[in-house]
Amino acid sequence: LKKEVIPGVWQFGDMDQAVNDRTRLVVVDRTTWHLGFTIDVEAVCKLAHAKGALVVDDPFQALGAIPVDVKKENVDFLITGCHKWQCGPGSVGFMYVRKDLIEQFEPEYSVYGNASVGRPEHPRIQNCPGEFGQLNHDNILSYNYPYVKTAQRFEMGTVAGDYLAGFGAALQYLNNLGKTDIEERVRRLGGYFIDKLTSIGCKVNTPVDPKERHGLINYTTGSYDNDLKSCLELNDHQVAGPMLRYQGGIGGIRTCVHFYSVEEDVDKLIKLQKNLMPK
Ligand SMILES: Cc1ncc(COP(=O)(O)O)c(C=O)c1O
Repeated sequence: LKKEVIPGVWQFGDMDQAVNDRTRLVVVDRTTWHLGFTIDVEAVCKLAHAKGALVVDDPFQALGAIPVDVKKENVDFLITGCHKWQCGPGSVGFMYVRKDLIEQFEPEYSVYGNASVGRPEHPRIQNCPGEFGQLNHDNILSYNYPYVKTAQRFEMGTVAGDYLAGFGAALQYLNNLGKTDIEERVRRLGGYFIDKLTSIGCKVNTPVDPKERHGLINYTTGSYDNDLKSCLELNDHQVAGPMLRYQGGIGGIRTCVHFYSVEEDVDKLIKLQKNLMPK
């Protein structure tokens, strides 16, 4: 356990207490949306698996900023949308299910896409679910068919293909930049931002350790009223992104730096924020 307890940041000791032999599922935000507290999901999986529980990872605030390796980490389920750090369009997301778990779970509904309808014996379509345009897609007389054996058994119908194409382009762009280069830059800029905030007297709520955060930074000027005033002022000056919300009971101003941010963006915010500090 760490000496200082930060609200909104839990320790593995806490989890060890909370997860027991009756736990079926452990659900984690890889990076929390309010604080940017980023956890070691591999360690979570190890702990949960030791107690016989499975892990659902929500990396909505992490994927695109830091690399995620579900195989190495032994993640069971991962569910995410793509319009945040992955820079993809809205309305698109995906789910990952560990391969050996796919057939252990059944979808909530049977649809034409996940029913293993008697397929024509053609190697190309034999194992395909009945997508539009496939033979037999419209000819399902009953749903007493087994589900397909692939992760497509969890699809609920037509997928948003045009959004997926946009997401594909975003992924290609991110992959060309390089996952580890993005990570290095985001963590470094996050550190730059934290140092500057601290130097003007803000209290940074996000853990300082780069292993426990990336570019999502939450800070306070000391009071809700002044945080609100600061946030409105920053937004008025087109400093993109600062938000003040209930923030999971933690409070503070949430701001993010991604790979496309530059030090000057941080400096601009800091200059404005400095003038908004309580006298
Ligand atoms: C960690 C996390 N998960 C999921 C979501 C998406 O939630 P919803 O689909 O309800 O908008 C968000 C959005 O802010 C998030 O931060």
